Amino acid sequence: MRQHVNPLNSNFNQVEKIPSFSQMFNDSKLNLHLDIGCADGEFLFDLALVNTSWNYLGIEIREKLVKNARLKLGKSEIKNLYFVFGNANNFLNDVQSEFIFKNLKSISLNFPDPWFKKRHYKRRVIQPEFINILSNLLQEGTLIFTKTDVKDLFDYMDCTISSNFYFKKIDKKDFNYSESFNPNKVKTNREKYAILNQLDIFERIYIKI
Ligand SMILES: C[S@@+](CC[C@H](N)C(=O)[O-])C[C@H]1O[C@@H](n2cnc3c(N)ncnc32)[C@H](O)[C@@H]1O
Repeated sequence: MRQHVNPLNSNFNQVEKIPSFSQMFNDSKLNLHLDIGCADGEFLFDLALVNTSWNYLGIEIREKLVKNARLKLGKSEIKNLYFVFGNANNFLNDVQSEFIFKNLKSISLNFPDPWFKKRHYKRRVIQPEFINILSNLLQEGTLIFTKTDVKDLFDYMDCTISSNFYFKKIDKKDFNYSESFNPNKVKTNREKYAILNQLDIFERIYIKI
């Protein structure tokens, strides 16, 4: 059973120092994807190994998971992957990470924590202010991929993102995955669990206009 972390805890106010692209990646000119709430990074390891024409960045609030992912990365030959520890919301608000958001081709939010109780909604990653800041930072054409097995959370995320004038939904049928950060439709751990347990998966893609 995994331990939930309260993202509003002041321990997460400080954002760790973010290195330059050339320190993070072997080839800093590759397309950049950010996975928010990447857990142990397994999904990103799978992607980075196969899609060497992309750089992958993961952010995760559980420090132990990030430490382990970094250890695993250090023992590998992978040079297109980097992990940041911290609260994604604080990361977004931090001036030193602006250059990252301005250079992203896409972002994924895969099965973010639902925080079911209404009084805990403020702990959800997606907040109107978060989407508002994203809309200011992201370049036109940047994609946001959301996935969850919690219908209420899906509706909430969809309403929050769609309420922002600068994000438009893309019909999955019209989307060419082969050019995306995940051309082989690699599954996240939670996604594999949801499939195994026959849970519904709700997903949507948005584009910054
Ligand atoms: C339900 S897990 C899903 C993990 C993975 N994305 C997957 O699909 O298997 C949600 C993850 O998001 C992380 N998380 C929650 N809030 C976060 C935040 N504000 N910033 C960064 N990571 C966060 C959690 O610690 C957890 O690892």
